[in-house]
Formats: sequence, C-alpha cells, structure tokens
Amino acid sequence: MTTTTPKRITVPAFRAMKGGPRIGTLTAYDYPTAKIADSAGADMILVGDSLGMVVLGYPDTLSVTVEEMLHHTRAVARGTSHALVVGDMPYLSYHISVEESVRNAGAFIRAGAQAVKVEGGKPSRIRIIRRILDAEIPVMGHIGLTPQSVNAFGGFKLQGKGSEDARRLIDEARALEKAGCFSVVLECVPAELAAFITEEISIPTIGIGAGPACDGQVLVFHDLLGLYDGHKAKFVRRYAQIGDDMRTAISHYLDDVRTGRFPDVATESFHVGSEEELRRLYGNQAAAADATTVKSDSE
Ligand code: KIV
Repeated sequence: MTTTTPKRITVPAFRAMKGGPRIGTLTAYDYPTAKIADSAGADMILVGDSLGMVVLGYPDTLSVTVEEMLHHTRAVARGTSHALVVGDMPYLSYHISVEESVRNAGAFIRAGAQAVKVEGGKPSRIRIIRRILDAEIPVMGHIGLTPQSVNAFGGFKLQGKGSEDARRLIDEARALEKAGCFSVVLECVPAELAAFITEEISIPTIGIGAGPACDGQVLVFHDLLGLYDGHKAKFVRRYAQIGDDMRTAISHYLDDVRTGRFPDVATESFHVGSEEELRRLYGNQAAAADATTVKSDSE
C-alpha cells in the first residue's frame, strides 16, 4: 500500500476554503513544534509576532525585529510540508516606507513563508498592502485588536463594541478584501460583528476571540498547549498542560541524576569492546573488577 503525503496548501487553495469546513490554524515558531502542528493537519501555520511574548519573553510584540521573525520563519518552513506558512510582519517593518515594507515582506518569502500578515486596515495601510501584493507577495489582513497598536488602544481591549467602531472594522475588512488580501484575521471583536463581516466578505475570516462564526480559528501554540504562564485571555481554550508535564519530567530527570539512577550502566551507557581492551586500558586488576559490566557497543 502506498501512502501519499497531502500536498502543501497554497494561497489560492486556502482562499477557496471559504464557506467549506472550518479552517484550523495555529501559530508555531520553531522546527519541532511546526512539524508537530503540520503533521496534526493544520491548514495554516502563522509564525506570529506573538513570538516576542511566548518565546522571547518580551512584555508585548513591539520589540520583535524582522531578523528575529525571519530566523523563526526559516525554522517553521523547514518543519512543514502541508500547512500554508504565513510570516507575521513585526512592528515598524511596514510603517516607514513602501520600499522598506516590500523589501521586508520579500525577506519573509525568501525565508520560506508563502505569505505575510500585516496588521490594520486604514487607508495608509491599504496603500502599503497594495504595493506588497504588487510584488507578488500574498497578504493576510488582521483587524480588531491588533497587538502592535496596544499603546494607541490603551491596552489589550475588545474592539468594535460600539456601532461606530464596528462600522470602521467592517469598512476595513471590505478594504482589505478589495485590495486583494487572501484572508483576514479578526481578533478580539464581538461574535456578532465577526459573523457579519464573515458574511460580508468573500475571503476567509480567521478568528481569535471573535466567536464561532468565522471561517476558521487561530490560537497561539503556547496558549493552546499550556506552555505560557502569562495572562490567559477569555478566548483561549487549553487543550493540554504541557508546561506542567515538562516541569514534572525535568524534575524527575534532575532527581535521577542527583541520586545516581541516571544513566543506567547496562542500558544507557557505552562500553569498551572486550575485557582485553579493558585490561590494556587499566591493567588486570581493574579489568577483573569491571568485567561484569562490560557490554558490546552495539547493544
Ligand atoms: O502574532 C500572533 O500570534 C497573531 C495571532 C494571534 C493572530 O497575530
């Protein structure tokens, strides 16, 4: 029997998932975890700038640099063969000039991403997104609680609660669709607003804290698996407590080292090939004493 590995999900294929079965996505930041998420069947892996908080220990995402993002994007790209890989453009990488924005977006593609994600949907942002798209780089939009705007928002707060703000977000979603984005993340907005936007636009909406009506969902890897002990937002569902399991395993290991139970001499150690070799090394006395523990290297 031959088994076939599912082919890589392309940007057009992802866009065509609108209205079909819900799209399952998550973030990842390194080779082994990307490989796990990919083999579990993730449709899209976002190398999110949440990297800054859950992997690099920054208080927010604003300190993350392009170089840091590219380093992790390369690792995720090497760990995936099925999921669409999207690189998250960090703060100030698409804010200064069109040229810099396009160059930075291109660097993500060269690092192995198939697309980039850009936060915001105001007219000046749409102009930059158009130029990135013009360079043949697919763009995923991101509106609502855009973490790079945390200072402008005055904190990590629900967006689109009042009708005026909701109207602004609907306009931004339409503008991103019109500009040519293949999908848009809706973060921390009322479920009713996300449902409305999902109905309104022809590209998949990927929700995080945006209720169940979106075309797909995204969660931060470390939140989903219980690896991050910072603030847990209301919308996070933990599917495991891997952090606790890791701590328990590591403390068992340290205990075994300190009490001499690790490594085991018979099963976890290498040995010289023969008693004769041992005798050459230490002389007859030591060889006789150690003869009981001599095992072949191949065991
Ligand atoms: O950086 C990130 O992880 C994100 C997702 C939460 C959408 O932008």
